[in-house]
Amino acid sequence: MVRDILKYGDPRLVRPSEPVTEFTDELRRLVEDMFETMYAARGVGLAAPQIGVNRRLFVMDCSGGRDAAERVVLINPEILATEGEVVEEEGCLSLPGLYAKVARPYRVLARGLDLDQREITLEVTGLAARCVCHEVDHLDGRLYISRLSPLKRDLLERKIRKMIKSGEW
Ligand code: NI
Repeated sequence: MVRDILKYGDPRLVRPSEPVTEFTDELRRLVEDMFETMYAARGVGLAAPQIGVNRRLFVMDCSGGRDAAERVVLINPEILATEGEVVEEEGCLSLPGLYAKVARPYRVLARGLDLDQREITLEVTGLAARCVCHEVDHLDGRLYISRLSPLKRDLLERKIRKMIKSGEW
């Protein structure tokens, strides 16, 4: 089932999420919904708080659904190590239509659990590394906008306020 994605301004996007403790069928359904919602919105990553679920998990597929091997679900993720830095344009399904250059590590080593509670280690670079950092930020209640310079952040926030006023947000 495709769920509604919360947009910037919703307080549920800026609260830290709680660890997943129950590996139930409900969790499986949640992950299915997250993939469906992410593909429907043409995103490459989606974190549970973006659909209002206050739990530490995210889904990601940098192939946009073209390669099943790229499908990742990471539960209670932790970033163990990072390397390098890349400044690239970044977007977020909770900030539709807006993009900004954000500095992220080039390489990320992360760990978490899959739906069967098996430990997974992910070593990723480039877009996937950016995505992992972006999604873990969501779980900590952070949006990429908070990583911009005050000037750029202000510019984006002004754009959003205008869109809210005109009913486009
Ligand atoms: Ni996002």
